Amino acid sequence: MGTRTDPKKGWLEERAALDALDYPVPKAASRWTYMLGGLTASFIVMLVLTGLYLAQFYNPSPIGAHDSVLYILTRAPLGDWVRSLHYWSAAGAVVMITAHLVHVFWRRSYKRPRELTWWAGVGMAGLLFLLIVTGSALRYDQEGFEALAHFVAGGELTGTLGAFFTEGFTRSAPLLARIFGLHTSLLPLLLVGLMGLHFWLIRHLGIHADDEEREVFRTHAIRLVGVSLLAFALVGLLAVVAPEDLGYPPVAGVEITKPFWPVLWVYGLENLLGAWGMILGPVLLFGFLVAVPLLDRRPDDTPGRHGWLGWLALLVGAAVLVLWLYGAFGPARQHLGM
Ligand code: HEM
Repeated sequence: MGTRTDPKKGWLEERAALDALDYPVPKAASRWTYMLGGLTASFIVMLVLTGLYLAQFYNPSPIGAHDSVLYILTRAPLGDWVRSLHYWSAAGAVVMITAHLVHVFWRRSYKRPRELTWWAGVGMAGLLFLLIVTGSALRYDQEGFEALAHFVAGGELTGTLGAFFTEGFTRSAPLLARIFGLHTSLLPLLLVGLMGLHFWLIRHLGIHADDEEREVFRTHAIRLVGVSLLAFALVGLLAVVAPEDLGYPPVAGVEITKPFWPVLWVYGLENLLGAWGMILGPVLLFGFLVAVPLLDRRPDDTPGRHGWLGWLALLVGAAVLVLWLYGAFGPARQHLGM
């Protein structure tokens, strides 16, 4: 049987089977609230691209790390800008994933049959959190050094479970190099894998919207690319006008910095509970998120009608916000007894 060709199709259209993108989706998919997940994905693409570039110059040894970041800032072609793009894209991804999470929670899109979609999302939020704390350690200035010291303290507190995060885990590689490995291979691979699962489920379960009107997915995808380019232009500009700085080489034994802003709520909790706060806070928050589809027992899926679960979610959100404010504006404290 010969290959069927359609003279009306463009070169790429035919060879890349682009018409497979012409399946119907609700028109609501192109509302800005439904773009938040796609924008998160776009920021993650930007993080991977800029991260690949930074990795060409970064030296993950405790002796060379700080100097290599200085090298990126001063010598690598466009290194200063690309590093700030990486920083601002991380901030963008955090804002978008949080807004997306709130939106799908509000719509109660975690209800049957979308529980796995929700859990894959919670997994990705957890991975993004880990990418942020491992990335913070890599800068290896005072803030980075203190982030690394928190990994060690967490590892020691949790015994065998956290042994990987202690220097004593192996003599052949420093902890910083192993954190670099996590940040650049295992965590992004897991994130991209879960994103594949998330997209597969959305493709086959359909988008959760009440909209009867339809458009083809290709139209939605083109809009999403347009909005993503605008978002990239914004972070590109922010990277110029507000470049991310680098502190002095670290001094061991002191704890004087505060972490990257998405982690400030954990810092606030540490102010109250000491080092256990950094373990307890994320475990409780992510535990709550995992439990959401199991706790909402109402049969309908009307947006906003969560019953008591809505009040509990508000309480959790308010607690995170108050802790964040306390972390941001409260005193800088020693947590590790360094
Ligand atoms: C890297 C992170 C993520 C990416 C790239 C992503 C991407 C997307 C996209 C493109 C959609 C379809 C459009 C929409 O409904 O908004 C979607 C839907 C969904 N996402 Fe995410 N998402 C991420 C994280 C999360 C998180 C953290 C959660 C919640 C814990 C979550 C839960 C859901 C659910 C339940 C749906 C189905 C909603 C529907 O069908 O309308 N996602 N996601």
